[in-house]
Amino acid sequence: MTQTAPQPLPKPLAQMADDVLRTADGRAKTALSRRYAQMWRDARTAGLTPHIGTATPPLQPARPTTPALLDPRDVPRRKPGTPEGRIAILHAVAHIELNAVDLHWDIIARFTDTPMPIGFYDDWVKSADEESKHFNLICDCLEAQGSHYGALDAHAGMWRAAEDTADDFMGRLAVVPMVLEARGLDVTPGMIKIFKQAKDRQAIDALEVIYAEEVHHVAYGSKWFHWLCGRDGLDPTPVFHDLVRRYFHGPLKPPFNEEKRAEAGIPPDFYWPLSDATPKPTRR
Ligand SMILES: [Fe+2]
Ligand SMILES: [Fe+2]
Repeated sequence: MTQTAPQPLPKPLAQMADDVLRTADGRAKTALSRRYAQMWRDARTAGLTPHIGTATPPLQPARPTTPALLDPRDVPRRKPGTPEGRIAILHAVAHIELNAVDLHWDIIARFTDTPMPIGFYDDWVKSADEESKHFNLICDCLEAQGSHYGALDAHAGMWRAAEDTADDFMGRLAVVPMVLEARGLDVTPGMIKIFKQAKDRQAIDALEVIYAEEVHHVAYGSKWFHWLCGRDGLDPTPVFHDLVRRYFHGPLKPPFNEEKRAEAGIPPDFYWPLSDATPKPTRR
Protein backbone atom coordinates (compact mmCIF):
# COMPACT_ATOMS: atom_id res chain seq x y z
CA MET A 1 0.00 0.00 0.00
CA THR A 2 1.45 3.38 -0.91
CA GLN A 3 1.47 6.06 1.73
CA THR A 4 0.13 9.42 0.50
CA ALA A 5 2.29 12.37 1.51
CA PRO A 6 0.58 14.94 3.75
CA GLN A 7 -0.96 17.65 1.61
CA PRO A 8 0.03 21.23 2.39
CA LEU A 9 -2.84 23.73 2.59
CA PRO A 10 -4.10 25.12 -0.74
CA LYS A 11 -3.17 28.63 0.42
CA PRO A 12 -1.86 30.37 3.56
CA LEU A 13 -4.25 30.09 6.52
CA ALA A 14 -4.95 33.85 6.70
CA GLN A 15 -6.20 33.72 3.10
CA MET A 16 -8.38 30.71 3.84
CA ALA A 17 -9.86 32.70 6.73
CA ASP A 18 -10.49 35.59 4.34
CA ASP A 19 -12.37 33.23 1.96
CA VAL A 20 -14.76 32.24 4.75
CA LEU A 21 -15.33 35.89 5.72
CA ARG A 22 -16.21 36.71 2.11
CA THR A 23 -18.76 33.87 1.76
CA ALA A 24 -22.27 35.30 2.24
CA ASP A 25 -24.69 32.36 2.54
CA GLY A 26 -24.77 30.86 6.05
CA ARG A 27 -24.70 27.17 5.09
CA ALA A 28 -22.07 27.84 2.39
CA LYS A 29 -19.95 29.78 4.90
CA THR A 30 -20.08 26.99 7.47
CA ALA A 31 -19.41 24.31 4.82
CA LEU A 32 -16.26 26.13 3.66
CA SER A 33 -15.25 26.80 7.26
CA ARG A 34 -15.55 23.10 8.15
CA ARG A 35 -13.72 22.00 5.00
CA TYR A 36 -10.82 24.37 5.70
CA ALA A 37 -10.72 23.34 9.37
CA GLN A 38 -10.45 19.69 8.30
CA MET A 39 -7.55 20.55 5.96
CA TRP A 40 -5.79 22.36 8.81
CA ARG A 41 -6.35 19.42 11.15
CA ASP A 42 -5.05 16.93 8.58
CA ALA A 43 -1.93 19.01 7.98
CA ARG A 44 -1.27 19.39 11.71
CA THR A 45 -1.89 15.69 12.38
CA ALA A 46 0.65 14.91 9.66
CA GLY A 47 3.20 16.99 11.57
CA LEU A 48 3.16 20.00 9.25
CA THR A 49 3.36 23.63 10.38
CA PRO A 50 1.42 25.36 7.60
CA HIS A 51 2.16 28.89 6.49
CA ILE A 52 -0.06 31.57 8.09
CA GLY A 53 0.64 34.37 5.60
CA THR A 54 -1.31 37.61 5.57
CA ALA A 55 -4.70 38.82 4.32
CA THR A 56 -6.76 41.98 4.18
CA PRO A 57 -10.06 40.80 5.65
CA PRO A 58 -13.17 42.94 5.06
CA LEU A 59 -14.18 45.22 7.95
CA GLN A 60 -17.57 43.49 7.84
CA PRO A 61 -17.96 39.88 6.69
CA ALA A 62 -20.24 38.94 3.79
CA ARG A 63 -23.73 37.98 5.00
CA PRO A 64 -26.88 36.58 3.40
CA THR A 65 -29.56 39.04 2.22
CA THR A 66 -31.82 37.88 5.05
CA PRO A 67 -32.15 38.24 8.01
CA ALA A 68 -32.59 42.00 8.01
CA LEU A 69 -30.26 43.44 10.64
CA LEU A 70 -32.04 45.83 13.02
CA ASP A 71 -31.00 48.04 15.87
CA PRO A 72 -31.18 45.84 19.00
CA ARG A 73 -33.99 48.05 20.39
CA ASP A 74 -36.14 47.25 17.34
CA VAL A 75 -35.77 43.46 17.53
CA PRO A 76 -39.09 42.20 19.00
CA ARG A 77 -38.99 40.67 22.50
CA ARG A 78 -39.36 36.91 22.74
CA LYS A 79 -41.98 35.10 24.78
CA PRO A 80 -40.36 31.73 25.54
CA GLY A 81 -43.67 30.09 26.50
CA THR A 82 -44.87 29.87 22.88
CA PRO A 83 -43.57 27.90 19.87
CA GLU A 84 -43.04 31.24 18.06
CA GLY A 85 -41.04 32.50 21.02
CA ARG A 86 -38.84 29.42 20.98
CA ILE A 87 -38.26 29.79 17.23
CA ALA A 88 -37.22 33.39 17.91
CA ILE A 89 -34.70 32.18 20.53
CA LEU A 90 -33.26 29.60 18.11
CA HIS A 91 -33.08 32.23 15.38
CA ALA A 92 -31.16 34.56 17.70
CA VAL A 93 -28.77 31.72 18.61
CA ALA A 94 -28.20 30.90 14.92
CA HIS A 95 -27.32 34.55 14.34
CA ILE A 96 -24.85 34.53 17.25
CA GLU A 97 -23.24 31.33 15.93
CA LEU A 98 -22.84 32.72 12.40
CA ASN A 99 -21.19 35.83 13.84
CA ALA A 100 -18.95 33.60 15.94
CA VAL A 101 -17.79 31.70 12.81
CA ASP A 102 -16.70 35.01 11.33
CA LEU A 103 -15.21 36.29 14.58
CA HIS A 104 -12.88 33.31 14.89
CA TRP A 105 -11.71 33.41 11.26
CA ASP A 106 -11.34 37.19 11.59
CA ILE A 107 -8.94 36.95 14.54
CA ILE A 108 -6.85 34.55 12.43
CA ALA A 109 -6.79 36.85 9.38
CA ARG A 110 -6.57 40.27 11.00
CA PHE A 111 -3.71 40.15 13.49
CA THR A 112 -0.97 38.38 11.55
CA ASP A 113 1.41 41.29 12.32
CA THR A 114 1.79 39.77 15.79
CA PRO A 115 3.77 36.53 15.57
CA MET A 116 1.92 33.89 17.56
CA PRO A 117 2.72 30.25 18.38
CA ILE A 118 1.10 27.72 16.04
CA GLY A 119 -1.18 26.62 18.91
CA PHE A 120 -2.97 29.96 18.66
CA TYR A 121 -4.10 29.01 15.16
CA ASP A 122 -4.97 25.45 16.20
CA ASP A 123 -7.29 26.89 18.85
CA TRP A 124 -9.15 29.37 16.65
CA VAL A 125 -9.49 27.03 13.68
CA LYS A 126 -11.03 24.47 16.07
CA SER A 127 -13.33 27.13 17.52
CA ALA A 128 -14.42 28.32 14.06
CA ASP A 129 -15.15 24.70 13.12
CA GLU A 130 -17.26 24.23 16.26
CA GLU A 131 -19.19 27.48 15.66
CA SER A 132 -19.92 26.24 12.14
CA LYS A 133 -21.29 23.01 13.58
CA HIS A 134 -23.36 25.02 16.10
CA PHE A 135 -24.89 27.16 13.33
CA ASN A 136 -25.79 24.05 11.35
CA LEU A 137 -27.30 22.30 14.38
CA ILE A 138 -29.50 25.29 15.21
CA CYS A 139 -30.50 25.75 11.56
CA ASP A 140 -31.53 22.08 11.55
CA CYS A 141 -33.76 22.79 14.58
CA LEU A 142 -35.31 25.82 12.87
CA GLU A 143 -35.94 23.86 9.69
CA ALA A 144 -37.47 20.94 11.61
CA GLN A 145 -39.99 23.48 12.93
CA GLY A 146 -40.81 24.89 9.49
CA SER A 147 -38.64 27.99 9.88
CA HIS A 148 -35.11 28.88 8.75
CA TYR A 149 -32.28 31.31 9.42
CA GLY A 150 -33.36 34.53 7.73
CA ALA A 151 -37.08 34.09 8.48
CA LEU A 152 -36.92 36.67 11.30
CA ASP A 153 -35.03 39.90 11.86
CA ALA A 154 -31.74 39.85 13.74
CA HIS A 155 -29.50 42.01 15.86
CA ALA A 156 -27.26 44.47 13.97
CA GLY A 157 -24.91 45.14 16.90
CA MET A 158 -23.20 41.77 16.90
CA TRP A 159 -20.25 42.76 14.72
CA ARG A 160 -19.65 46.04 16.55
CA ALA A 161 -17.12 44.54 18.96
CA ALA A 162 -15.11 43.27 15.99
CA GLU A 163 -15.06 46.68 14.31
CA ASP A 164 -14.21 48.48 17.55
CA THR A 165 -11.23 46.19 18.13
CA ALA A 166 -10.09 45.84 14.50
CA ASP A 167 -6.78 47.51 15.44
CA ASP A 168 -6.37 46.14 18.94
CA PHE A 169 -5.49 42.47 19.25
CA MET A 170 -5.61 42.34 23.06
CA GLY A 171 -8.84 44.36 23.02
CA ARG A 172 -10.32 41.75 20.65
CA LEU A 173 -9.36 38.88 22.97
CA ALA A 174 -10.68 40.74 26.02
CA VAL A 175 -14.05 41.66 24.52
CA VAL A 176 -14.95 38.77 22.20
CA PRO A 177 -14.06 35.48 23.87
CA MET A 178 -13.61 36.78 27.43
CA VAL A 179 -16.74 38.98 27.63
CA LEU A 180 -19.19 38.07 24.85
CA GLU A 181 -18.57 34.32 24.72
CA ALA A 182 -18.33 34.18 28.53
CA ARG A 183 -21.80 35.74 28.58
CA GLY A 184 -22.97 32.75 26.54
CA LEU A 185 -21.90 30.51 29.44
CA ASP A 186 -24.11 32.60 31.77
CA VAL A 187 -27.28 32.42 29.67
CA THR A 188 -27.21 29.00 27.96
CA PRO A 189 -28.40 26.94 30.99
CA GLY A 190 -31.55 29.09 31.18
CA MET A 191 -32.16 28.51 27.48
CA ILE A 192 -31.74 24.74 27.87
CA LYS A 193 -34.37 24.88 30.64
CA ILE A 194 -36.87 26.56 28.31
CA PHE A 195 -36.47 23.78 25.73
CA LYS A 196 -36.63 21.11 28.43
CA GLN A 197 -39.99 22.50 29.51
CA ALA A 198 -41.11 22.32 25.87
CA LYS A 199 -39.67 18.76 25.57
CA ASP A 200 -37.83 19.78 22.40
CA ARG A 201 -35.15 17.07 22.33
CA GLN A 202 -33.42 18.32 19.16
CA ALA A 203 -32.96 21.84 20.55
CA ILE A 204 -31.84 20.53 23.98
CA ASP A 205 -29.19 18.33 22.32
CA ALA A 206 -27.94 21.19 20.12
CA LEU A 207 -27.73 23.63 23.03
CA GLU A 208 -25.94 21.07 25.20
CA VAL A 209 -23.28 20.64 22.49
CA ILE A 210 -22.92 24.42 22.32
CA TYR A 211 -22.70 24.79 26.12
CA ALA A 212 -20.00 22.10 26.39
CA GLU A 213 -17.87 23.49 23.55
CA GLU A 214 -18.16 27.21 24.31
CA VAL A 215 -16.16 26.78 27.54
CA HIS A 216 -13.11 26.07 25.39
CA HIS A 217 -13.53 29.22 23.29
CA VAL A 218 -13.56 31.35 26.45
CA ALA A 219 -10.54 29.40 27.72
CA TYR A 220 -8.61 30.01 24.48
CA GLY A 221 -9.35 33.73 24.85
CA SER A 222 -8.04 33.73 28.41
CA LYS A 223 -5.02 31.60 27.50
CA TRP A 224 -3.84 33.88 24.67
CA PHE A 225 -4.71 37.09 26.52
CA HIS A 226 -2.52 35.93 29.42
CA TRP A 227 0.17 34.79 27.00
CA LEU A 228 0.37 38.28 25.44
CA CYS A 229 0.39 39.91 28.89
CA GLY A 230 3.20 37.60 29.95
CA ARG A 231 5.18 38.30 26.80
CA ASP A 232 4.98 42.05 27.50
CA GLY A 233 5.36 41.88 31.30
CA LEU A 234 1.83 43.26 31.89
CA ASP A 235 -0.46 42.64 34.86
CA PRO A 236 -3.46 40.93 33.20
CA THR A 237 -6.24 42.09 35.55
CA PRO A 238 -5.94 45.91 35.18
CA VAL A 239 -5.14 45.54 31.47
CA PHE A 240 -8.33 43.49 31.00
CA HIS A 241 -10.41 46.05 32.92
CA ASP A 242 -9.02 48.95 30.85
CA LEU A 243 -9.69 47.19 27.53
CA VAL A 244 -13.22 46.13 28.42
CA ARG A 245 -14.07 49.66 29.65
CA ARG A 246 -12.71 51.06 26.39
CA TYR A 247 -14.41 48.68 23.95
CA PHE A 248 -17.45 47.21 25.68
CA HIS A 249 -20.30 49.62 26.11
CA GLY A 250 -21.97 49.28 29.49
CA PRO A 251 -21.54 47.18 32.63
CA LEU A 252 -21.32 43.36 32.62
CA LYS A 253 -24.59 41.84 33.79
CA PRO A 254 -24.82 39.28 36.58
CA PRO A 255 -25.74 36.57 37.37
CA PHE A 256 -22.42 35.12 36.23
CA ASN A 257 -21.79 31.43 35.74
CA GLU A 258 -18.85 31.50 38.14
CA GLU A 259 -18.13 27.78 37.89
CA LYS A 260 -17.92 27.65 34.08
CA ARG A 261 -16.06 30.96 33.97
CA ALA A 262 -13.50 29.52 36.40
CA GLU A 263 -13.22 26.41 34.24
CA ALA A 264 -12.47 28.72 31.31
CA GLY A 265 -9.75 30.60 33.20
CA ILE A 266 -11.73 33.77 33.98
CA PRO A 267 -11.42 34.55 37.71
CA PRO A 268 -14.07 36.63 39.58
CA ASP A 269 -11.81 39.68 39.92
CA PHE A 270 -11.85 39.96 36.12
CA TYR A 271 -15.61 40.48 35.79
CA TRP A 272 -17.13 41.61 39.11
CA PRO A 273 -15.39 45.03 39.08
CA LEU A 274 -16.90 45.62 35.60
CA SER A 275 -20.45 44.78 36.66
CA ASP A 276 -23.08 47.08 38.08
CA ALA A 277 -23.54 44.88 41.17
CA THR A 278 -21.50 43.58 44.09
CA PRO A 279 -20.63 39.87 44.39
CA LYS A 280 -22.84 37.69 46.54
CA PRO A 281 -20.83 35.81 49.17
CA THR A 282 -20.24 32.22 48.10
CA ARG A 283 -22.48 29.85 50.07
CA ARG A 284 -20.81 27.04 51.99
FE1 LIG B 1 -20.98 28.58 19.32
FE1 LIG C 1 -17.83 30.23 20.74
